[in-house]
Amino acid sequence: MDTPFDPRPIGIFDSGIGGLTVLRAVAQRLPGESLIYLGDTARVPYGSKSPRTVARYTIQVADFLLARGIKALVVACNTASALGLEALGRHSPVPALGVILPGARLAAGTTRNRQVGIIGTRSTIASGAYPRELTALDSLIRSHPLACPLFVPLAEEGWHHHPATRLIATESLQPLMAAGIDTLILGCTHYPLLAPVIAEVMGPEVTLIDSARAVADALAGRIGPEIRPAPPGARPTRTLLATDVPDRFEEVARRFLELEESGGLERVEMVDLQP
Ligand code: DGL
Repeated sequence: MDTPFDPRPIGIFDSGIGGLTVLRAVAQRLPGESLIYLGDTARVPYGSKSPRTVARYTIQVADFLLARGIKALVVACNTASALGLEALGRHSPVPALGVILPGARLAAGTTRNRQVGIIGTRSTIASGAYPRELTALDSLIRSHPLACPLFVPLAEEGWHHHPATRLIATESLQPLMAAGIDTLILGCTHYPLLAPVIAEVMGPEVTLIDSARAVADALAGRIGPEIRPAPPGARPTRTLLATDVPDRFEEVARRFLELEESGGLERVEMVDLQP
């Protein structure tokens, strides 16, 4: 029988803990929806792998979450969005959203001087995905892309405010300091974890764009017309899955998501993507 509601969870995935920034934004924006998160911690980082490998991982994770009965999938990883979303769009029977377009839209609407910095993993920057989207949105925007490969391990390690992080951020962001940007896209979902340090290094005249909120808004816009909402009054669940080291993942997740308050979290379950 057809009903206007769908109790199935929304899947969210990243190579590690970075996509928890998206999980948090989605949980705030759509509190009634059940969410299932998969961090592919056994294979993190994706950002230094080839486009073919990242696309293959993306499809593999999607298939795993589809088998768990998701009704939509958010690719909460810029690298997988840049390199795997196109293949996923052809493959997935449920709506699939990435983080690049919502982040680029937010940046294009934020910049005043049309000088936009983009930081991301090597693969995301090499893909040219953000400059392409930004130019399509506004041909006068000038992109300043920069790979910051050391940021992901710092975020995964939980060194979000560590002095070493400040030092590495100051060194890594140096090429952007003279570029005259007024907007900086955090083009990796791990980077919002380091946002206070990045903001301090870049200074108050640069606005940081965190695509987590933007993708949560984009998802919310598709609930109703395309994705049926959760039944009203149902208790939403938050399930966390990791492909390796669930204890460490759980500790960072709890601290970062302040999950004591939100409740409804099941223990982090370790899963094997191979059938
Ligand atoms: N969080 C992922 C992203 O947004 C990348 C981290 C990695 O290199 O795996 O790009």
